[in-house]
Amino acid sequence: QFGAVGALTLLSWLVFQSFNQVQEIGCLVFFPESKFLIAASFLILSAFIYLCPLLIHSPCLIDIKEINLTKPDLWGHRGAPMLAPENTMMSFERSATECKVKVFETDVQLSKDGIPFLMHDNKNEFLKRTTNDTQKISCGNQVDISKLQSLNAGKWFIEVSAASDMSLATKRAETQTIPTLTQLLDLAKLHNISIIFDLYRPENCSNTNDTEDTVKVILDSGINHELIYWLPPQNREYVKKTSSFIQVYNNTKEMSAQNGAHLNVKYSDLSADEIRDLRNGGVKVNMYVVNERWMFSLLWCAGASSVTTNNCQVFSKMEQPDWTMVSDVHTCSNSGCLFVLPTPAV
Ligand SMILES: *[C@@H]1O[C@H](CO)[C@@H](O)[C@H](O)[C@H]1NC(C)=O
Ligand SMILES: *[C@@H]1O[C@H](CO)[C@@H](O)[C@H](O)[C@H]1NC(C)=O
Ligand SMILES: *[C@@H]1O[C@H](CO)[C@@H](O)[C@H](O)[C@H]1NC(C)=O
Ligand SMILES: *[C@@H]1O[C@H](CO)[C@@H](O)[C@H](O)[C@H]1NC(C)=O
Ligand SMILES: *[C@@H]1O[C@H](CO)[C@@H](O)[C@H](O)[C@H]1NC(C)=O
Ligand SMILES: *[C@@H]1O[C@H](CO)[C@@H](O)[C@H](O)[C@H]1NC(C)=O
Repeated sequence: QFGAVGALTLLSWLVFQSFNQVQEIGCLVFFPESKFLIAASFLILSAFIYLCPLLIHSPCLIDIKEINLTKPDLWGHRGAPMLAPENTMMSFERSATECKVKVFETDVQLSKDGIPFLMHDNKNEFLKRTTNDTQKISCGNQVDISKLQSLNAGKWFIEVSAASDMSLATKRAETQTIPTLTQLLDLAKLHNISIIFDLYRPENCSNTNDTEDTVKVILDSGINHELIYWLPPQNREYVKKTSSFIQVYNNTKEMSAQNGAHLNVKYSDLSADEIRDLRNGGVKVNMYVVNERWMFSLLWCAGASSVTTNNCQVFSKMEQPDWTMVSDVHTCSNSGCLFVLPTPAV
């Protein structure tokens, strides 16, 4: 709007000039309505530009002093992927100590010997991006965990982030390996942090007992069941029978059908009103992947319970949403309200 007001002001002399020219060259005789047309269009356009803020809806048009807004919890997306290589123990540790995340978000796959390990990519040559694998391994369940853990999972991060300093963090990042789910469960127990994950199996890799093996490893770790947010939709019934993990759904329909109370959706999937209605109904709403301050602020104003983020080190330092504004400022007295509209400098 500020831009439009500026443009209108800068262009107004042109409008004024043509308004006058209409008279000078006597067009009035042939087009008596021209002068009126110019004036009317200019006035309507100005009115629209000046009043259009009335049409702006934002959950952040609120008085944050009056409404108690709880800051959304932070869920570290693969740890703290801007501070350390994603899905490594260093990444999760930094997200716990430096961002105080409430939940570790990760990705689980199974090795040939049935050990769940943490790796996001799951297409052909799934180790290529984040490790130094040269054998072009395409299925996690073709190799044992010992082979996977012999790979380096941190050097790529140093190359990508062009960190050339020899700080302790850089040195530590360089030596990271692929963690097992058990390692992460131990860290989660230590800090009382929850875990949520996607369970992947690369296409065309033979069907193993992924859900059962994963559940077994979690149960064996002795972690408090309340700390596991179970997201994978396949075999949910089995998981419900064998554990009391918290069930998390990726859509409202399935969640209501199964009497769930935890939703995990993309940041753009719900409007502010929908978020509010869900929260009023007692549902915890997590939104992924939120990396920008303005987006985090909007979801904060809208009342989201938590966000999955790459940027926990920034969000953890925010004390209130950026850019909130009280929605209606009136200058009112007993005799009525005063509206002051600035006029363009014609
Ligand atoms: C906001 O929270 C304070 C205490 O934390 C409470 O006294 C107050 O009533 C709350 N206001 C609203 C509008 O909920
Ligand atoms: C990957 O890096 C690790 C540790 O730096 C090293 O021991 C291993 O030989 C490397 N593997 C390959 C295939 O280069
Ligand atoms: C651990 O976290 C859970 C869930 O967030 C909470 O209910 C519990 O009180 C916490 N336990 C400790 C010892 O802090
Ligand atoms: C999986 O197998 C099908 C059929 O053999 C093939 O068309 C497809 O390209 C394979 N996908 C991958 C990722 O290898
Ligand atoms: C999967 O594991 C469970 C329990 O460990 C076992 O009862 C079941 O038969 C297994 N299923 C398959 C397809 O291997
Ligand atoms: C949500 O889960 C269902 C299975 O319950 C799956 O088919 C669908 O692709 C998932 N949607 C998203 C957006 O991940």
